[in-house]
Amino acid sequence: MKLAFLASGRGSNFEALVNACQQGRVDAQPAMLIVDQPQAGALQVAQRLNIPAHVLPATDKATHERAIAALLQKEDIDLLLLAGYMRLLSPFLVGLMYDSRLGQSRILNIHPADTRRYQGLHGYRWALQNQLTQTAVTVHYVDEGMDTGPIIAQESLPILPNDDIDSLQRRGLALEHDLYPRALQSVIKELQSLCAVS
Ligand code: GAR
Repeated sequence: MKLAFLASGRGSNFEALVNACQQGRVDAQPAMLIVDQPQAGALQVAQRLNIPAHVLPATDKATHERAIAALLQKEDIDLLLLAGYMRLLSPFLVGLMYDSRLGQSRILNIHPADTRRYQGLHGYRWALQNQLTQTAVTVHYVDEGMDTGPIIAQESLPILPNDDIDSLQRRGLALEHDLYPRALQSVIKELQSLCAVS
């Protein structure tokens, strides 16, 4: 299984996923990182971990996605992992990765909330502002909507009385870095069993 990653920022989930592959917890090869921002921290992570990286500016969405698609096809990518990629995908890219046996596109994302309760940016801030005592992190398939794809795995995240955005985000990210590789490995196992029967 060859993996490609799409990121816009820091890249801590990208790093956790690559580490999980390199440590044998995920049965896949991280093949490339694509970012839409030349200043994305994920680029330094890719350099450190020796993963080929591409900067594809997104001034025009259709051109941006065609360039992504060309790279995915050239490298024969099996799964696309969104890791802090702050854009919606169009039906073109979602359709390109559609797998009829899976009934989903082979695209995953992680979200810092329960996607049924909150979609969009700043999920940890939303949980604090709404004075929740518990929130969640969610790994889901990606469709054209904002955090609307079917849920693959979810873990709850307690909010402590003294939590601020820094402490909640720190514990939330630690949970994300554990959950995302486990959810990815479960999808890989499912794809392998689908391949074995077809
Ligand atoms: C993560 O908290 C991720 O859950 C969130 O962006 C952050 C990226 O951090 N994603 C979303 O909000 C998607 N709706 P990272 O660049 O360090 O992985």
